[in-house]
Amino acid sequence: MPGGLWVAGFLLLPSRSEILMDNTPFNILYLTTELSPYARTGGLAQVAAALPRALAALGDDVRIILPRYGLIDPEQHRLRRVLESFPVPFDHETETAGLWQAQDSPLPVYFVEHHRFFGSRKGIYSFPDDGERFIFFSRAALEAVRRLDWQPHAIHCNEWQTALVPNWMRTLYASDPFFAQTAVLYNIHNLSYQGIFGQRVLEIAGIAEHGFIAHPEVSPSLNQVVDMMARGIIFADIIVTVSPTYAREILTPEYGEGLDPILRDRQDRLFGILNGIDTESFDPARDPHLAATYDRHNLQGRDRCRLALLQEAGLPDLGDAPIICMTSRLSDQKGYDILETVLEPMLRHLETQWVIMGTGEDRYHNFLENLQARFPQKLRVLFTYSETLARRLFAGADIFLMPSRHEPCGLDQLLAMRYGAIPVVHATGGLADTVQDHRPPVTGTGFSFQDYDGMALFAAMVRACEVYRHPTVWADIRQEAMGRDHSWASSAREYRKLYRRARSLKLTGRPQ
Ligand code: GLC
Repeated sequence: MPGGLWVAGFLLLPSRSEILMDNTPFNILYLTTELSPYARTGGLAQVAAALPRALAALGDDVRIILPRYGLIDPEQHRLRRVLESFPVPFDHETETAGLWQAQDSPLPVYFVEHHRFFGSRKGIYSFPDDGERFIFFSRAALEAVRRLDWQPHAIHCNEWQTALVPNWMRTLYASDPFFAQTAVLYNIHNLSYQGIFGQRVLEIAGIAEHGFIAHPEVSPSLNQVVDMMARGIIFADIIVTVSPTYAREILTPEYGEGLDPILRDRQDRLFGILNGIDTESFDPARDPHLAATYDRHNLQGRDRCRLALLQEAGLPDLGDAPIICMTSRLSDQKGYDILETVLEPMLRHLETQWVIMGTGEDRYHNFLENLQARFPQKLRVLFTYSETLARRLFAGADIFLMPSRHEPCGLDQLLAMRYGAIPVVHATGGLADTVQDHRPPVTGTGFSFQDYDGMALFAAMVRACEVYRHPTVWADIRQEAMGRDHSWASSAREYRKLYRRARSLKLTGRPQ
């Protein structure tokens, strides 16, 4: 077994030189509540499907565990039981869980089974007992790997749902030989969802006697509750968020969502690594969902995709007007509050056609429905979300608009660029890191605006539409955008280094 030797039930510490050897394969346990294609609501599902695969390609043994939700079809994914029911300490008692494995995945993917918490429910989140459900899931995952006799060098936790794992490692499991050498990397995908509960969850989690955590600079309202995300940040060996800019932004009160004082305390352990995309699945040269395939050296097929999109959306072909698409949730965070102030004038004054896909707040459904009725030749709204349709939007549209107020990373702008739709974005988080503004002589890969307001968005759109009228300049921007490498390979190497850094910090107190 890499990393140590079991003697009479105890693991002997590896020598320091072994820790330092960057090439020693690691066992990495990846805990997630979403994973494509089994269960998804957002970007986490795509990341969870791609990063572990990229890590495995670099030589690590990565295993994924998620809950066995009722919506996962056991036949489709050929689930096989790998552990009979095993005990999980929970709320002063013991619950039992089962463990299943998918047989349709190249990497080991396991599912924690619990009928009441997961099997019997239709959805993934938003149940009144989500705190209990995900505490149970996290604890069961740890108990399961012990029974698989597979000792992780590092556990990769995602979001608040698994944020008690680092807390447990410093308390309940601190002197457990099985986990004594296991480091924890805590991955923040979106600080807006923190998992805030009453103190009772500490009892359920078995850590009530380890007390309550208050921070002198955190607001009283957050200090009086249990904030799961905060605990992940406080106890993890390494904290990673999904872009370098977001990693800096969350240290400020403006973006810190109340946790910036805690993040500032842990700054030396906080890193930002950009997400990648699955460039094999999302490849316009091979995508079976498109009307025609194309690549950056031969864009003919793209014209067919453009016409097919107009047809699918039921819009007339206006020839010269750029097609603008959007695919995000209809919410304030995604920029709908500023879009609301300028979409009507844009429809009136800019020679454009729009295809907007998404679901979300009622207010924006009504707003868009109303505009669609008034501008039937220019705007089509699809109140749905479909990945297949998203592919056709990216392939057929000229411009992709993503004006998010804040965006930890964002994946759609990366997909849009790969398919040749030029992004117009608010320069925040991962959008700032991945979209380079067109500022002659810099060709850039898109257009961005700094101030979060409707007029700044309008001005950026006007700029994009102006440049669109110069086909050679537009073609250059498209070449740049389509040519950028957003595959996971380099980001996976960064994560790989951080697992090792985390473990070294845990074992020696030093980064390496
Ligand atoms: C969250 C973030 C998004 C990020 C995704 C995957 O959904 O809001 O910006 O791309 O997680 O990390």
